[in-house]
Amino acid sequence: MDIASNEDHPLRHLTLDQLRRRTSMKWRTHPEDVLPLWVAEMDVPLAAPVARALTEAIAVGDTGYPAGTAYAEALAGFARERWGWDGVAVERASIVPDVMLGVVEMLRLVTGPGDPVIVNCPVYPPFYQFVTHMDRRVVEAPLGPGLRLDLAVLEEAFARSTAGGGRAAYLLCSPHNPTGTVHTAEELSAVAALAETFGVRVVVDEIHAPLVTAEAAFVPYLSVPGGESGLSLMSASKAWNLAGLKAALALAGPAAAGDLARMPEEVGHGPSHLGAIAHTAALREGGRWLDAVLDDLAENRRLLAALLAEQLPAIAYQPAPGTYLAWLDCRKLGLGDDPAAAFLARGRVALSTGSDFGTGGDGHARLNLATTPEVLTEAVRRMAKAVG
Ligand SMILES: Cc1ncc(COP(=O)(O)O)c(C=O)c1O
Repeated sequence: MDIASNEDHPLRHLTLDQLRRRTSMKWRTHPEDVLPLWVAEMDVPLAAPVARALTEAIAVGDTGYPAGTAYAEALAGFARERWGWDGVAVERASIVPDVMLGVVEMLRLVTGPGDPVIVNCPVYPPFYQFVTHMDRRVVEAPLGPGLRLDLAVLEEAFARSTAGGGRAAYLLCSPHNPTGTVHTAEELSAVAALAETFGVRVVVDEIHAPLVTAEAAFVPYLSVPGGESGLSLMSASKAWNLAGLKAALALAGPAAAGDLARMPEEVGHGPSHLGAIAHTAALREGGRWLDAVLDDLAENRRLLAALLAEQLPAIAYQPAPGTYLAWLDCRKLGLGDDPAAAFLARGRVALSTGSDFGTGGDGHARLNLATTPEVLTEAVRRMAKAVG
């Protein structure tokens, strides 16, 4: 593989044989006859600037502990250029091992054991697992019509969660996994106003943000009026496929700087130095590669919609620009609560089980469309065969 040339259609480079040499979760959980379109890994070659930065680090044995603020500075530059937002302040950014551990540490800063954490189901399953594991209580505020935030439902959940006068947090996923919903500035401002009214602290997982196209306009939560007291997690992990190179950034709005300052120093010992190097290179120099991925993803969304319309018209799919995940409503297929189980058993295609995403997930499956058009086409063919 010529790494220098991989800015040309990153999602059309790799063959299944090449991908099957990978030893990551996507490729090693199921036997070889299964097409894996589940966990959020992308079937792309590593972006050339990232590969270069890692190769240089290896060449000089730069494999010690992470130091400095380069990652935060790189994110600040990316945010300015992509989102027109000047709000990533290095003094209000802390490096954390990954986004989910960052979420846990930030929730620890603003809630206590047993306190409620509100989430918008259906949502990324680890939101339930990590919140429960850290002794907080998940409160569901389901998404509303069009798979968008339902502010009335959110208000009711905020009111219920704070009724006894205790502390509560809202763990917002922006853009939303699994639906790909990109929240608007109006929605996020309304969230901030509600949070202020009820004294709910907002922790926002913005890991998918770099995957939002310019037209779809990602809005950082900390940038909206009232967002100053928010806490955010950002990372290059999803957009550049760097989950194996652990690092992420915890950001505080100006009014939450004191909270972030209470984060124990040892949390910053968790990320990998090579991870920080890789994420920094991605944000600084990986823009062209990312744009090429976004073009390929837009093509794949169109392809998936066309394939489903043709071969599985009973599946409802609303293409959304916020991630490379597709949320498939399979309830009309008659496959019961877990259509992913049927697609795996009968079609040898691995999707994510909808019910793991909480209330509203039954009868759904999540498909990862960050693969080649060939694999996507074959996956839908197999799914249709599994049903037919
Ligand atoms: C919304 C969301 N948050 C967090 C993660 C995991 O991020 P990390 O590996 O940095 O913990 C994912 C991975 O898919 C995700 O979709």
